Amino acid sequence: MAGKKVVKKKVKSVSVKYKSLKSKGVVKKVPSGIRNLDKIIEGGFEKNSTNLIVGGSGTGKSIFAIQFLMDGIKRGENVLYVAFEEEKAGFYANMLEFGWDLNKLEKSGKFFFLPYTPDKIRTLLEEGGGDIETIVLNKKIQRIAMDSITTFVMLFDDDVEMREKTLALFSLLRSWTCTSLLIYERDPLIDKKRSSRVLEFEADSLIFLYFTRIKRKRERFLEVYKMRGTDHSTDMFSYNIRAASGISISSKPYSGNLDNFKTV
Ligand SMILES: Nc1ncnc2c1ncn2[C@@H]1O[C@H](COP(=O)(O)OP(=O)(O)O)[C@@H](O)[C@H]1O
Ligand SMILES: [Mg+2]
Repeated sequence: MAGKKVVKKKVKSVSVKYKSLKSKGVVKKVPSGIRNLDKIIEGGFEKNSTNLIVGGSGTGKSIFAIQFLMDGIKRGENVLYVAFEEEKAGFYANMLEFGWDLNKLEKSGKFFFLPYTPDKIRTLLEEGGGDIETIVLNKKIQRIAMDSITTFVMLFDDDVEMREKTLALFSLLRSWTCTSLLIYERDPLIDKKRSSRVLEFEADSLIFLYFTRIKRKRERFLEVYKMRGTDHSTDMFSYNIRAASGISISSKPYSGNLDNFKTV
């Protein structure tokens, strides 16, 4: 209508409010330690959040987890790696290739390696705390990686129980003031059963790692599927793994054909 003045009311969106909280330092970010990742997730993972990394075998999940923990140590933090599948000596030898001397860091009381079984996690949730909590509290752990949580989810045939136990795990992790990475082994391009759906739904962030053939070569890609309270990129980024630098994601989004990435 001609002449009618439209008065635009300024409405503060949730994300604007959130940003102002962030700028006031109420919401703190924890750098990931992965080169170029923090640029697309507004500085890193949210402090005290529980983050899920989903990818198939060989995508670099364990390297990602250790790289995240090493970044913490660099900043003077103590960190805990909860190993469900990895055999310690072999794992330490693999990580030494990247210059991460876990033996030495363990001896100096900065890095803690805790072998665990999914069954032990179940007991931990039923009885509370356990030896993970003892380490977390006594050693003032600030970053935790659980590698991997896949078999834990598989323990439950019953969806209701799985959901209940997953929620209990998240609530336990949230009760400690740690930033956690949960590793989940699932190739998002092949395994679409999503037995991890409760984890994916509950996690504060979800990152997918892909390893797929582009023309003649298999290539690696990372996608931030969700990250609560973060204006993250929705692009696909290629990444590489090198002994000298660990995982580095590309500084620019992947501009090639995305036909391979038909997930759920
Ligand atoms: N020293 C290295 N240099 C380059 N790439 C490596 C090196 N060591 C391992 N990798 C790559 O990392 C992959 C294994 O990473 P890992 O974190 O163990 O995978 P996941 O835990 O997802 O199964 C290997 O398949 C290989 O491609
Ligand atoms: Mg692994």
